[in-house]
Amino acid sequence: MLHDFTQGLPEGFEEIYPIRRGSTVAAVDWNKPTRPIDLDVWSKQTSNFWLPEKIPLSNDLKSWNLLDEGTQRVVTHSLASLTRLDTLQAEFGAPCLLSSPGITPHESANLSFITGMEAVHARSYSSIFSTLLPSDKIDEAFKLANMDGLLSSEMDYFLTAYQGSQIDPLADSLPGPTLTAMKAATSVMLESFLFYTGFYPVLKLAAEAKLTNTADIIRLIMRDEAVHGFYIGGIFERLREEAAEDDETADIWSRIASYVEDSIESLFAVEKQRIEEYYSWSDVCKDWIPDALQFLGYNGKMAGSNLGDSDYAKNLGDYGDNVSAVILSQLSTVSDENHDYFSGSGSAYVIGTVESVTDDDWD
Ligand SMILES: [Fe+2]
Ligand SMILES: [Fe+2]
Repeated sequence: MLHDFTQGLPEGFEEIYPIRRGSTVAAVDWNKPTRPIDLDVWSKQTSNFWLPEKIPLSNDLKSWNLLDEGTQRVVTHSLASLTRLDTLQAEFGAPCLLSSPGITPHESANLSFITGMEAVHARSYSSIFSTLLPSDKIDEAFKLANMDGLLSSEMDYFLTAYQGSQIDPLADSLPGPTLTAMKAATSVMLESFLFYTGFYPVLKLAAEAKLTNTADIIRLIMRDEAVHGFYIGGIFERLREEAAEDDETADIWSRIASYVEDSIESLFAVEKQRIEEYYSWSDVCKDWIPDALQFLGYNGKMAGSNLGDSDYAKNLGDYGDNVSAVILSQLSTVSDENHDYFSGSGSAYVIGTVESVTDDDWD
């Protein structure tokens, strides 16, 4: 039977659930953002809004059909794995932060928007699949991604941290905002690090003028992830700076720093194994492995830098210092392409402005 909350909370409820009461929720005043960055990010996010339906993916069918079966498999598995990770981020990654201790109302609003965009990202891979694959292959792709043991182990790492019950007893012992900071750091591991690994096969093919419209979707996602990683990393830094004066939490923060360092190193190792295993499905992709591992290191270092300390990624050694120029050039999310609905959309896609027809137009 449902509990009648008008009669008060059930016995023992408050010990189990760290709840906030209605009286603690203040109206969010956007005329006075907590920090200028909150308004900047809100404006950036809302002006960057996009939907996959605007990108005419069927232009890619010809180059898709010319790919060998192994390469198709690698691309398909990368995108299905990304779907799984974006689903995780939409369901847990951003939502677990938005009402956490220490998060301001403006950050919470931005995190709500991030949550929605993660769902758009997850949805966009299905648009790619429905264009390039028959339905039985789509079913197979999702089944394979859902059964991917290495990916599942990475997801277990994220989910346990997001739910505050990291098997390492660190999370359970963290008070209020420090636990929020740990979750934010974990989120940056996805936003700035692992997502990008999944983008590699499409970026590589786009550099050879293959799957260019699929790559446009990937660049739109990358444009979002760049904002997400930077902003959530900034929340982590803010919480760390605010705690800097507090001697009592110094030990906790050094443990969080070790956690971040270990996480980057461990996720690198698992992802390296995935790349080496899956890229071997194709003779073409096998040759990509050294550069893909460089790109993996590059993004691990990006995660460290978004968390405010490049030393977090010091255990990655030289990985990331020698990414091919071909891939680095694909990272530009600002292209000069002139897109509209009819000619094909891309990362430079802007929603057109509408102007009423007047009599003068007919002269
Ligand atoms: Fe995403
Ligand atoms: Fe994201």
